[in-house]
Amino acid sequence: MVNRGVRLFPAPASGLVLLCVLLGAVRSYALELNLRDSENATCLYAKWQMNFQIQYETTSKNYKNVTVSDRGIATYKGSTCGDGKNGPRIAVQFDSGFSWTVNFTKAMTTYSIDSISFSYNTSNTAVFPEAKDKGVITVYDTVKIGIPLNNIFRCSSLSTLESNDVVHQYWGILVQAFVQNGTVSTKEFLCEKDKTATTAPIIHTTAPAPTATPTPKGKPEVGAYYVRENGTCLLANMGLQLNITQDKAVSVININPNMTDFTGSCHPQTALLRLNSSNINYLDFVFAVKNENRFYLKEVNVSLILGNGSVLSFTNSNLSYWDAPLGSSYMCNKEQTVAVSGAFQINTFDLRVQPFNVMEGKYSTAQDCSADDDNFLVPIAVGAALAGVLILVLLAYFIGLKRHHAGYEQF
Ligand SMILES: *[C@@H]1O[C@H](CO)[C@@H](O)[C@H](O)[C@H]1NC(C)=O
Ligand SMILES: *[C@@H]1O[C@H](CO)[C@@H](O)[C@H](O)[C@H]1NC(C)=O
Ligand SMILES: *[C@@H]1O[C@H](CO)[C@@H](O)[C@H](O)[C@H]1NC(C)=O
Ligand SMILES: *[C@@H]1O[C@H](CO)[C@@H](O)[C@H](O)[C@H]1NC(C)=O
Ligand SMILES: *[C@@H]1O[C@H](CO)[C@@H](O)[C@H](O)[C@H]1NC(C)=O
Ligand SMILES: *[C@@H]1O[C@H](CO)[C@@H](O)[C@H](O)[C@H]1NC(C)=O
Ligand SMILES: *[C@@H]1O[C@H](CO)[C@@H](O)[C@H](O)[C@H]1NC(C)=O
Ligand SMILES: *[C@@H]1O[C@H](CO)[C@@H](O)[C@H](O)[C@H]1NC(C)=O
Ligand SMILES: *[C@@H]1O[C@H](CO)[C@@H](O)[C@H](O)[C@H]1NC(C)=O
Ligand SMILES: *[C@@H]1O[C@H](CO)[C@@H](O)[C@H](O)[C@H]1NC(C)=O
Ligand SMILES: *[C@@H]1O[C@H](CO)[C@@H](O)[C@H](O)[C@H]1NC(C)=O
Ligand SMILES: *[C@@H]1O[C@H](CO)[C@@H](O)[C@H](O)[C@H]1NC(C)=O
Repeated sequence: MVNRGVRLFPAPASGLVLLCVLLGAVRSYALELNLRDSENATCLYAKWQMNFQIQYETTSKNYKNVTVSDRGIATYKGSTCGDGKNGPRIAVQFDSGFSWTVNFTKAMTTYSIDSISFSYNTSNTAVFPEAKDKGVITVYDTVKIGIPLNNIFRCSSLSTLESNDVVHQYWGILVQAFVQNGTVSTKEFLCEKDKTATTAPIIHTTAPAPTATPTPKGKPEVGAYYVRENGTCLLANMGLQLNITQDKAVSVININPNMTDFTGSCHPQTALLRLNSSNINYLDFVFAVKNENRFYLKEVNVSLILGNGSVLSFTNSNLSYWDAPLGSSYMCNKEQTVAVSGAFQINTFDLRVQPFNVMEGKYSTAQDCSADDDNFLVPIAVGAALAGVLILVLLAYFIGLKRHHAGYEQF
């Protein structure tokens, strides 16, 4: 079983076209969590998108609504497989002061998505300008969605949950708790909305696969980066995806070139490309020359800002990637991984880079990475197997949901 881990990417997932239209392609948290127990077997799998609209009172006695979505990198501290006493739980922290938790219970033949709690901190003036009351507010909702054991719950449709001043929206949900034998089930249990959404208009010429494949992780957009010093001296076109492992949870972040700044410097023996964005203090690529006739990626230094405001840094100055003769460029269209540390890797897509000897702002002849390997079948087979295995699951089905209990706490 391959660990797909936790993913976060700030755009509506593909395959949810209808929803995106419905939602006007809103920004949202798109999360994925593959939680493992002490024996490293998957105990819980979840993938979903969500956002929140919060109403608060201002000092001028008005009410304002803010939408919380796509803020910073999420962390999953407190997520657990559960033990004899407590059931499994997913806990997510994002931006500064937001946290979201869902817990699960188990009965003889079913398990339930039990309740959801959501906390926000109105002292955060960047999010809640002029808030009258400042402090942490937590809203609880009991959802009690029952699902047969060893089934994965799917609800692609939009589910809305209103509690006090918060409107939660969830969609693209796949979840399975109490996963048996470490294998996420291929048996799907659909929410009512999905059932009605998929019956009428769709004509299947072939029987649909019993295990719908998960929406593939979006490829990052390709950015065009360069360093100019008395003329362009470094060129780099690439789609970048960061993969961060914290505790046992994995976050995958696509870099959006539109929201990323870049700079750098060029010297005869070394060249630097530095990116930064709202979540990235810096991401440095350092290139060097070896044997006076080749260049390579020697070093990566990165400093990331986490959802809770803390900073995470990785550095490796002993790398050896993207090796090509001086006077040429290095090209690799397929996905490649730069392993910076055990907990941080960069996946690159449609890469072309030339850190030295750039003439007239244009790339020189490329050395292509496909020359490095002739076996394309292995990655394809692995990818197909992965897709098959990873059919998964879901999280919350609120349709027709009755609020059995709602509390409001302020402290
Ligand atoms: C858990 O399993 C995954 C994939 O099976 C493997 O990559 C990882 O190293 C394992 N982790 C531990 C702590 O054994
Ligand atoms: C992210 O890193 C983890 C741990 O190295 C790995 O198991 C996982 O496959 C990676 N995911 C992607 C999309 O690179
Ligand atoms: C905030 O949103 C709620 C629910 O959508 C709505 O009832 C309320 O009128 C909105 N308030 C403002 C000030 O827009
Ligand atoms: C932020 O989250 C990370 C990972 O969950 C944790 O290691 C770190 O201690 C947290 N920092 C703060 C200030 O809470
Ligand atoms: C789930 O969380 C809610 C709210 O935090 C709590 O009241 C409830 O007891 C929890 N249920 C379980 C089974 O842990
Ligand atoms: C709420 O936010 C304020 C301002 O950012 C901070 O001082 C305070 O510690 C936060 N409260 C909690 C409980 O995190
Ligand atoms: C899990 O393993 C046990 C023992 O090998 C087997 O009896 C059971 O059917 C398996 N369950 C699933 C869902 O595969
Ligand atoms: C910039 O290029 C010009 C012409 O090639 C050269 O005379 C000058 O020294 C260069 N300046 C720097 C800082 O390299
Ligand atoms: C980036 O900007 C270009 C052109 O302005 C636009 O076509 C593209 O959709 C944008 N991409 C993202 C991810 O915002
Ligand atoms: C990148 O860093 C520069 C200088 O520190 C800063 O002015 C800029 O706003 C940052 N860019 C982004 C997208 O955060
Ligand atoms: C990267 O980090 C290493 C170790 O912290 C440091 O020696 C090096 O100067 C850094 N490189 C850049 C380009 O900032
Ligand atoms: C760098 O890597 C080489 C070979 O991979 C290894 O022999 C060397 O000890 C490493 N140096 C450092 C400082 O890690």
